[in-house]
Amino acid sequence: MIQLRELRGDDAKRLYLWRRAPAVDRWMCGRPAETFDAHMAWFDAFREDHDSKGWIVAWNRRPVGFVMLKGCGCDDGRAEWGWYIGEDRARGRGVGRAAQALALDEAFGPLGVRKIASEVLVGNAAALKAQTAAGFRREGLLRAHVLKDGEARDVVLLGLLEQDWAARRDDYLRGLAPDIAIAA
Ligand SMILES: CC(C)(COP(=O)(O)OP(=O)(O)OC[C@H]1O[C@@H](n2cnc3c(N)ncnc32)[C@H](O)[C@@H]1OP(=O)(O)O)[C@@H](O)C(=O)NCCC(=O)NCCS
Repeated sequence: MIQLRELRGDDAKRLYLWRRAPAVDRWMCGRPAETFDAHMAWFDAFREDHDSKGWIVAWNRRPVGFVMLKGCGCDDGRAEWGWYIGEDRARGRGVGRAAQALALDEAFGPLGVRKIASEVLVGNAAALKAQTAAGFRREGLLRAHVLKDGEARDVVLLGLLEQDWAARRDDYLRGLAPDIAIAA
């Protein structure tokens, strides 16, 4: 069973470790905090920011990843998407796809978001497949936009409108891995 739960104070350490893990960091556009103190400053500010929302992805009640939306309260009704599955054993099993569905329902439901924007490194097949399946469309390409280990990398801009998700939702849920259920 995949669920999203509210972020808690005792999640700080696991987020710090997950975000720095090479298997996660290699596909993230930004950089992880260099120190735990810097991470805590980000973590505390994030939790206090009313326009940001973060959830721990729980698989059979065990924390395995993180999904977040930034800027939810902006006047344009647009939010920025960020996510990773931090536990190695949970990646590539359909957990991300399931968590994405739950977070999109929250975003376009209770949070009242109208559009979600996302930046994905070219070559990130798992993110591009999962997000395209949910209805994200390619809206642009930022050439040589970030430096990863000294190499300039292109970034794909993706956008998902509320109606895109509404049109895809049923098929998407039917396509979840058979052994992965989401909380009703
Ligand atoms: C991107 C991520 C969140 C997806 O979560 P996940 O649980 O691993 O993905 P899923 O198992 O739900 O699979 C999603 C899709 O990617 C495919 N996929 C999974 N792992 C893959 C891999 N290593 N290579 C290619 N395709 C892969 C799946 O087959 C699935 O395709 P489908 O939607 O066509 O069926 C996760 O892989 C991750 O955290 N990656 C590292 C950090 C990252 O990339 N964050 C996102 C930055 S934009």
